[in-house]
Amino acid sequence: MRPVILDVDPGVDDALAILMALHSPELEVLGLTTVCGNVPLEQTTENALKVLELAGRTDVPVCMGAARPLAREPVHAYEVHGPKGLGEAQLPEPEAVPAGDAVDFLIEGIEARIGEVIVVATGPLTNLALAEARSPGILSQSRRLVIMGGVLHEPGNISPQTEFNFHADPHAARQVVNSGANIALVPLEAARQLWLEQDLLRWHLAGREDPIARFCAASTQTVMAFETQLYGRRGMHLHDPLAVGLSIFPQLCEIQPLWIDVEPEGELTSGQLVVDRRPFVRDDHLVGNQVKCALKINVPGFLEVFLDRLLQ
Ligand code: BDR
Ligand code: CA
Repeated sequence: MRPVILDVDPGVDDALAILMALHSPELEVLGLTTVCGNVPLEQTTENALKVLELAGRTDVPVCMGAARPLAREPVHAYEVHGPKGLGEAQLPEPEAVPAGDAVDFLIEGIEARIGEVIVVATGPLTNLALAEARSPGILSQSRRLVIMGGVLHEPGNISPQTEFNFHADPHAARQVVNSGANIALVPLEAARQLWLEQDLLRWHLAGREDPIARFCAASTQTVMAFETQLYGRRGMHLHDPLAVGLSIFPQLCEIQPLWIDVEPEGELTSGQLVVDRRPFVRDDHLVGNQVKCALKINVPGFLEVFLDRLLQ
C-alpha cells in the first residue's frame, strides 16, 4: 500500500476523489488536509469530515489548513458545487472534529516516511506552499505530488487562460511548482477528456439504496446541471478523481515531461501556466521546473476503475 495524504477543498469532485481513494486497496490514506477553495475553509473541512463518516472511515484524521490564499482574496465556485460545496447531498452533521493543523500534518507525515508519501492535491496549493515555507525542502522528500491544476493551451474554466485551483492561489502554485519536488500534473486538458455521462452513473446506481449511492446521485446533481448547460451533454468532468487515479495507475495516462512555471500577478493571467518549450535553450536556463504532465487519458480504463472503486 502506498501512503497518501489528500489535500482537498470538497467540492463534489473532491468528495468523489476521496471516496475513490478510501476504496482503493493500493492506497493507505494517512489523512485529509483541507484548504479554502470551492467553498470557504470551515465548509471544506466540515465536508471532508462528513465524507469520511459516510465512508465509515472516522479513523482517518482531517486537518484544517489555510483559510485564505497566500496573497489574493479567496475565490469560490458555488455555482459549480452548490452553496455548501456538496451539491444537493444532505449528509448528517459530523461527530468528529478536525484533528490538527494541515501544514504540521503534511510536514510530519512526509518526514515520518521520507521518499514514500504521495500527496494528491486537488484544491488550491496554499497548504503545500506553507509547508514548504515552514520546512524548506519538505515537498522534495515526498515520493510525488500529484496535482490537479493549471491549463496548458485550452481555454480556462475560471478566466480566459486559467484553471480554478491555480487561479485561486497563483502564488502558492508557483512556489509548489518551483519547489523541486517530483510533480505529476493533471491539467485541465487531461481532466476534460474524462466525462462521466449522467446516464452511465444512473445505470450503475440503479436499484441501490445505500448511503454512498444516494450521496453520489445527490451530490452530482448541481455540477451536472452546470456542466450540461456548458457542454450540451448531461454529465460532468472528473477532475479530482483523475488525480487519485493517476497516483494508483500512472499507466492510464500518457505522460510528457514539460518545463512549466506559473504567472502569479498578471491582471488577466494570474495563475496561468507558462510552458517553456524553447528548443534552443539549455535545461538549466528554462523557466520553472520540469513536471510530468498527464496528456492523453485512457478514458474507458479510468471510468471502469473509478466506478468500480466509488461504488464497490
Ligand atoms: C478544479 O476546480 C475545482 O472546482 C474542482 O474541485 C477541481 O479541483 C477544476 O478546475
Ligand atoms: Ca478540488
